[in-house]
Amino acid sequence: MKFKKNILCIGAGYVGGPTMAVIAAKCPAYKVTVVDVNAERIQAWDSDELPIFEPGLLDVVKQARGRNLFFSTDIAAGIRAADIIFVSVNTPTKTFGQGAGMASDLQYWEKTAHEIVAHSGAAKIIVEKSTLPVRTAEAMERILQENKKGILFEVVSNPEFLAEGSAVKDLLEPDRVLIGSRQTPAGLAAARAIVDIFANWVAADRIITTNLWSAELSKLVANAFLAQRISSINSVSALCEKTGADVGEISFAVGSDRRIGSRFLNASIGFGGSCFKKDILNLVYISRSYGLDEVADYWQAVIRMNEYQQDRFVRMIIREMFHTVVGKRIALLGFAFKANTGDTRESPGIHVAAKLLEERAALVISDPQALDNARCDLAGFTASGAAVEYEPDPYRAAADAHAIAVITEWDVYKGLDFKKIFASMRKPAFIFDGRNILDHQKLFEIGFNVFPLGKPSLTHFK
Ligand code: UDX
Ligand code: ADP
Repeated sequence: MKFKKNILCIGAGYVGGPTMAVIAAKCPAYKVTVVDVNAERIQAWDSDELPIFEPGLLDVVKQARGRNLFFSTDIAAGIRAADIIFVSVNTPTKTFGQGAGMASDLQYWEKTAHEIVAHSGAAKIIVEKSTLPVRTAEAMERILQENKKGILFEVVSNPEFLAEGSAVKDLLEPDRVLIGSRQTPAGLAAARAIVDIFANWVAADRIITTNLWSAELSKLVANAFLAQRISSINSVSALCEKTGADVGEISFAVGSDRRIGSRFLNASIGFGGSCFKKDILNLVYISRSYGLDEVADYWQAVIRMNEYQQDRFVRMIIREMFHTVVGKRIALLGFAFKANTGDTRESPGIHVAAKLLEERAALVISDPQALDNARCDLAGFTASGAAVEYEPDPYRAAADAHAIAVITEWDVYKGLDFKKIFASMRKPAFIFDGRNILDHQKLFEIGFNVFPLGKPSLTHFK
């Protein structure tokens, strides 16, 4: 079959995989190929055991796989055949050298740009999909334009706004699609080519076109604003615990103001995920590099509050369990950074587990999807002999435990038989609800000592 255009996506991860699956499903006239250096990942995309857990994703993949959606490790052939190349390789925070702990590590991106130059024989549109520091497009343009073959590459920024756990829905019904390009005739034509793809299923008024730098910066700012809301309500949760106010009631009252809105106001043990911290660090780094220290400090405080919230939760556990957790069995319900994903990148669970293990607690980690990742995250502790068990069944995880700490807001935890769990635990039994998802009064009546976040605790101690 002859396709209208060939789309290539380099990087088959949490962003590239779902995005291309939806594009292929919605645009049968385009041939979509997804390539990755990781052969195991590519094999998994070609099977019924996808490499990432994402509700509804397998159905979408199956609609298009073998028709106009293909997975491959042949990056060179993919580049040669492509008209449009989406780049969604990983851009983690640098762990070394200049900007370590702040700036993005662009080595994978740059390697990809060189590969594109090496294997291209004709003009192509290059689409930045990975989250990148502002003005990365410019650096990419320089690498691409340096080619000796006289090939024209137009760089377009199309930042991804999907959230894990709801990626398919977010892609099918996006609040907006953002496409940034040079405001030259060639740049605008490239942007139109990308608009044409999304116009297959997204209403025209939801497709926003801007200049390149606005698109790149919008992604960082959108994530910074979302993270800021969580840090704001988490800061209030600490104040609630001191004053007797209830953070849930405050979220509702404050969120009822339509100017503020009700979403993203759930107090928690802190935000995780691959984007929020990295994007804010990028914002802080570029602000500082332009000498805007007040701006940098302002956004840095969002991260500081997030770290404080995670530490506070651990301190609460230790304090309430009579100032020691040595040898005590604590079941962590959930380890993913949020519900409906197996991803644990920057999960507060990692921090909580590490701190409790340093205090020599014995941990049982339970999660419906994230145990493989949890094992990798805590491998260092296991290797040095720390007491960590992994148990998918929450009932078995809680049996014989002194305490339960809710780390992830999985729905399944709300429906557990806590009478049965209480009967199987050591006494006094503690529950620390790091997501405020349980019925605290009911737990108290069963016999638990209950410690929510930002709400009065309920204990049986005299
Ligand atoms: C985020 C953005 O939402 C998305 O638009 C962007 O493309 C990538 O980054 P993601 O990290 O997948 O998506 O998940 P998100 O739903 O934003 O949650 C991030 C973290 O905030 C999670 O740890 C979540 O548990 C936490 N959170 C969210 C809260 O603690 N309270 C809330 O009210 C909402
Ligand atoms: P994200 O959450 O941004 O999608 P992931 O880490 O899930 O990040 O996915 C990025 C993918 O990019 C990984 O599967 C990785 O193997 C792939 N990758 C990194 N560098 C290259 C490269 N030069 N060529 C092809 N794939 C790459």
